[in-house]
Amino acid sequence: MERIIKIYRDPLELSYAIADELIKILNDAALRGGHINIALSGGNTPRTLFATIGNNYSKNINWKSADFFWSDERCVPPDSPESNYKLAKETFLDKIKMPAKHIHRIKGEQNPEEEAERYSAEVRNKTASALGVPRFDVIFLGIGEDGHTASIFPGDERVLTSNKICEVAIHPSTLQKRITLTLHTINNARKIFFMATGISKAEIVAEALNNPGNPLVPSSMVNPHSGEIYWFLDNEAASSLSQLA
Ligand code: 6PG
Repeated sequence: MERIIKIYRDPLELSYAIADELIKILNDAALRGGHINIALSGGNTPRTLFATIGNNYSKNINWKSADFFWSDERCVPPDSPESNYKLAKETFLDKIKMPAKHIHRIKGEQNPEEEAERYSAEVRNKTASALGVPRFDVIFLGIGEDGHTASIFPGDERVLTSNKICEVAIHPSTLQKRITLTLHTINNARKIFFMATGISKAEIVAEALNNPGNPLVPSSMVNPHSGEIYWFLDNEAASSLSQLA
């Protein structure tokens, strides 16, 4: 696993840098007549990225070379303000006029256990490698202050050790049900794009980067076995990083 840490002045500069990386991947795919599968992250951090792409990269980009999925979703309706899909749709996918057939949302309004099965089948059908295991080209991830990523929460052994494509998880404080890609799926990706901004993430980012493989910090368990992991950080989120080994 190759780890690349990129640090930027602020969320806007970080967003342009990620957008440029994504466009490069898209163009490479388009040049070889290929296709890429991207899983988007949720929460607030991607807002600036989605708006940057939606407002500045809607024309002359090979967006139809991509299909969009989600790393996780809250079990809420698609029009809920908590929906990760709603955020991406309104700020990004609608702006680039992404056809619905390229968008594979997790249906948070459905029965969680049934939807986890349905979404897993859709992910398998669209992204399975020759070995039949889902292999995303890019998975975006955020990191919570408690070290969670996607909806893989600290100490959730069931989800952390699952060999399924995705699982139903429960947020430890709100008890909200979530559907999340598992580490098993995440660690089979070609590229992981972690994004973290703001001083509130500084300590947990340093912890995750300095002490990999800790189940109490699920973000530190992301370790793509044959892929690259990029950490896109702004100065504040990177401010506790000592000289990394
Ligand atoms: C979610 C995300 C979650 C998020 C982190 C960081 O559904 O909330 O998938 O893993 O990325 O909690 O959230 P913020 O970007 O809001 O800090």
